[in-house]
Amino acid sequence: MTTDTSPPSVTPTDAQRPDEDGDALAESTSAASLARTVARSAQIETEIDTDPGRFRVLTGDRPTGHLHLGHYFGTLANRVQLQRRGVETFVLIADYQVITDRDGVGPIRERVYSLLADYLAVGLDPERTTIFAHSAVPALNQLMLPFLSVVTDSELRRNPTVKAEYDATGGRPMSGLLLTYPVHQAADILFCKANLVPVGKDQVPHVEQARVVARRFDERYGRVWADRPVFRAPEVLLSQAASLLGTDGHKMSKSRGNTIEIGMDADTTAARLKKAVTDADRHITYDPENRPEVSNLVLLAALASGRDPHEVAAEVGDGGGGTLKRVATEAVNEHFAPIRARRAELVADPGYLEDVLARGNARANEIAEATLDEVRQAMQMRYHA
Ligand code: TRP
Repeated sequence: MTTDTSPPSVTPTDAQRPDEDGDALAESTSAASLARTVARSAQIETEIDTDPGRFRVLTGDRPTGHLHLGHYFGTLANRVQLQRRGVETFVLIADYQVITDRDGVGPIRERVYSLLADYLAVGLDPERTTIFAHSAVPALNQLMLPFLSVVTDSELRRNPTVKAEYDATGGRPMSGLLLTYPVHQAADILFCKANLVPVGKDQVPHVEQARVVARRFDERYGRVWADRPVFRAPEVLLSQAASLLGTDGHKMSKSRGNTIEIGMDADTTAARLKKAVTDADRHITYDPENRPEVSNLVLLAALASGRDPHEVAAEVGDGGGGTLKRVATEAVNEHFAPIRARRAELVADPGYLEDVLARGNARANEIAEATLDEVRQAMQMRYHA
């Protein structure tokens, strides 16, 4: 991966370029490509330590339900770390993206404010991090139009994440939005000229798509107005976190009832963990390959107590599944007690939450309008008052 945004000496024809990029896009989840992304992410981590001011982060979530511990240990904790390390961060509540694979946005107000309460409770600071919602930023959404003009339907069809989401809809026809939402997501990233997108590997093709859009926009429209590109190419910061499974050893998902939510109370957490699946061997080890369920509980206890999973396993030793569950429950409830208390305070003050979102939206709008203005200028479309 390269951060070079200088113009190519020879501009390939549009007929050649999109297909090559389309292949690169489809390839972005291959083992070799992921290995490069992992290596580059490690390098970026050290660059952040030396010069956090070089980076602007954008990331986000679809408001489809309550955030759980998989989200927390997988991405949220890392966002808070980036904020602490001095990286300017934008967090998007991707409300329009909810309808890529479902018929409606659901109880959207409640979900958005629940998400916002989770964000603030875990430590995102609205003074340092801009939290905003898609639907509140019209200029961001307008970028979709010129961006769509530089992508092809075949490359969108080859996007592995779009394909997987399409397969998961169980025979529903592909909607125009499901096909093109990676372009919308490119607008999410590019409107604020973010150059770093911390995500899991399922989102890598989308960041690759955003890089392609940034470069092609520049090739096609960019150089008449100025000698620099409007957009810079964003990079992925791949999450290093071991992924946490649900209490049944399968992927954590609300529909399976195997999640522990950030905002759950201590008793519900204990009840969920009590029902967690273990195995017949009373001697507890950390062996994710062969003992996924037990190892997942060990990992959970380790993450929540900031310890090494092997050490946690050794400590439980012959205590069996019962002891392991008790250790995991205590670790989770202890770690989340202050977060949950803070969350309860936030939820009790809807006026404050509304104000935080309004301020984030205002800042996002200001930036999006400035970027849209540059885009119009680049495209020679600033001819009207
Ligand atoms: N697609 C992401 C998800 O489902 C959410 C998202 C929307 C996002 N826009 C983004 C992530 C921009 C990173 C950057 O989790």
